[in-house]
Amino acid sequence: MNEGDDVLQVRSLSKQHGQGQGLVRAVDEVDLDVPAAQMLSVTGPSGCGKSTLLHMLGGLERPTGGEVWLAGRRIDTLSERALARLRRRSVGFVFQAFHLVEELSAAENVELPALLAGRSPRAARRRAALLLERVGLADRARHLPWELSGGQRQRVAIARALANEPLILLADEPTGNLDTAATLDVLRLFEDLRAAGQTLVIVTHDERVAATADRVVSMRDGTFVDDARLAGTGPAGAGRLDGLIGLEG
Ligand SMILES: Nc1ncnc2c1ncn2[C@@H]1O[C@H](COP(=O)(O)OP(=O)(O)O)[C@@H](O)[C@H]1O
Ligand SMILES: [Mg+2]
Repeated sequence: MNEGDDVLQVRSLSKQHGQGQGLVRAVDEVDLDVPAAQMLSVTGPSGCGKSTLLHMLGGLERPTGGEVWLAGRRIDTLSERALARLRRRSVGFVFQAFHLVEELSAAENVELPALLAGRSPRAARRRAALLLERVGLADRARHLPWELSGGQRQRVAIARALANEPLILLADEPTGNLDTAATLDVLRLFEDLRAAGQTLVIVTHDERVAATADRVVSMRDGTFVDDARLAGTGPAGAGRLDGLIGLEG
């Protein structure tokens, strides 16, 4: 199962919780192919299974059925140790609540994954400086998280997620704690990354955020009910972001 340029391939993927009367099919036999450099949004109401799906895509949660292939390698059957290594080196996670280390500066937060992956302090520092520049925060490198706005904190978290040049960036409600201006900053950044070839999966219940992606998969009750490749997909639509600006205020 390694044909084409798909970074991610998912086959009949399921996650069940509980049993008997209490059985919950959080994700129910889902199939998905994500080609390289696609910005995919997964949208749907709260509780439909978005986070569970994302966690399984990145090896944070084990499926109860089906397969996940990342860059042609099956990951759902890996050992805990191999999964931890995969999460450290090949997957970038971005969460709604940022999850920065509060005692560390922006730069130190971004250095951390490279250090954990065994890079030299010097290489980690160089990489962090580059990434903070890329997310527009070079002048905030020495700031602690509490000295940054929500949007800035999320951009630091995105820089951190990119530290080890992940095969795929997985974001769970990345704009859920942000106002419209900060949301736009983050979406513009995602578009820049995608234009540079980064593959992204963004989970959101905000349909406006979803609509800025190349493709939107809609979920209900653990299954996909729609898969729309948005028109005008080139470099992902500046026009769609303009629509978001119109909804401001
Ligand atoms: N650890 C768990 N134990 C039992 N049920 C769970 C657990 N995690 C998630 N669920 C259930 O699985 C469903 C999907 O949850 P989730 O993936 O968090 O949805 P979403 O991210 O779309 O809000 C929900 O019904 C939720 O209550
Ligand atoms: Mg969720």
